[in-house]
Amino acid sequence: MMTQSLLQWLLFIHILLVCMTQPSIAKVPAVIIFGDSTVDTGNNNYIQTLAKSNFKPYGRDLQGGNATGRFSNGRLAVDFISEAFGLPKLVPAYLDPSYDIKEFSTGVCFASAATGYDNATSDVFSVIPLWKEVDYFKEYQTKLKDFQGENLAQKTLTQALYIISIGTNDFIENYYTMPSGRSNEYGVPEYEDFIVGIAKQFLMSLYNLGARKINLTGLPPMGCLPLERSKRLLSLGNCNDDYNKVASDFNVKLKGMMDLLNRDLVNVTIVYGDIYGILMDVIQNPDIYDFEDVAVGCCGTGVIEMSYLCNSRSLSCSDADKYAFWDSIHPTEKLNKIIADKMMNTTLHVFL
Ligand SMILES: *[C@@H]1O[C@H](CO)[C@@H](O)[C@H](O)[C@H]1NC(C)=O
Ligand SMILES: *[C@@H]1O[C@H](CO)[C@@H](O)[C@H](O)[C@H]1NC(C)=O
Ligand SMILES: *[C@@H]1O[C@H](CO)[C@@H](O)[C@H](O)[C@H]1NC(C)=O
Ligand SMILES: *[C@@H]1O[C@H](CO)[C@@H](O)[C@H](O)[C@H]1NC(C)=O
Ligand SMILES: *[C@@H]1O[C@H](CO)[C@@H](O)[C@H](O)[C@H]1NC(C)=O
Repeated sequence: MMTQSLLQWLLFIHILLVCMTQPSIAKVPAVIIFGDSTVDTGNNNYIQTLAKSNFKPYGRDLQGGNATGRFSNGRLAVDFISEAFGLPKLVPAYLDPSYDIKEFSTGVCFASAATGYDNATSDVFSVIPLWKEVDYFKEYQTKLKDFQGENLAQKTLTQALYIISIGTNDFIENYYTMPSGRSNEYGVPEYEDFIVGIAKQFLMSLYNLGARKINLTGLPPMGCLPLERSKRLLSLGNCNDDYNKVASDFNVKLKGMMDLLNRDLVNVTIVYGDIYGILMDVIQNPDIYDFEDVAVGCCGTGVIEMSYLCNSRSLSCSDADKYAFWDSIHPTEKLNKIIADKMMNTTLHVFL
């Protein structure tokens, strides 16, 4: 008896010592998110804007039907990515007062629906401009250092995964939509260059603020978003190939810029999230993914509804899992899960 409890005691001490000398630090202790509605987990609920989704039927498949401000029926790709790294299943929005720095220390979202790289894009719906997302990140760093102490906070910030998904609105909400705006100042290739320049400045400021593991997502095939299909006059329902071409041209430039930063900056890994390839594969092979419709959204008619147009009076599809898109722009939870899985398998595994 005596020997057994002594052994147990020694074993306990041993485990304790091992744990103390080799703290099991997760390789990615936090996910830190910047961008637009594809990754906004609820910040727009707390600002004055028309770009909102904190009402039914948004969130109808999320934990008992909670409309958190996510632009989907359920979780976003970043929520699934957070979970895949062993972190919380929902990434909290920075402006949500029901969370504090303890929760934000394992993940925080600064994204704002309807924003873009270009300040003129965030002006369209008076949402949070990208530079302000960076300001919030600076404020967060101060709070994190108070909470974790200087050294641990530094470690968290260095080892965190930074996920950025933004850019579609610069083209479809701003350049192609606002009369007498950017399209009067820039041709399409020049506007692409202008945006890539802002993206570079943004990545440099994240780097200077300590980010070392960065996932920057390119543009999706924006001509295949249900909203854009519905605007075709001559071939209603088809993808807008011109918009898709702009997206893929832009992505080539974006990747080129990222390659240079990977070469020139010390200790950084910047990966490109190929959302274009992932969505194209789903759109061209719906059967493989068990989707019945990849051309219109589940909410309402599926061709124009989003934000306030997708509301409790919209007659929506019964099973969102049969649809790739939830509203006329945004993926269903099922597609978000596919995006996250593919990203984990093809790109993010380098951080596991
Ligand atoms: C719904 O989401 C809000 C905002 O994220 C959160 O504060 C609240 O606790 C959630 N409610 C339920 C029932 O999950
Ligand atoms: C966007 O606005 C901010 C704040 O006014 C400014 O610092 C920044 O230079 C602007 N960005 C561009 C690309 O004009
Ligand atoms: C690069 O990483 C090494 C090892 O972690 C570290 O000693 C060095 O200070 C880092 N350099 C920069 C510029 O971050
Ligand atoms: C990701 O990889 C896992 C394990 O290899 C596999 O089961 C899964 O089907 C893959 N998912 C996708 C979307 O490729
Ligand atoms: C990048 O982030 C996007 C979400 O915007 C996600 O779908 C993708 O899995 C991520 N990829 C990497 C390499 O982090």
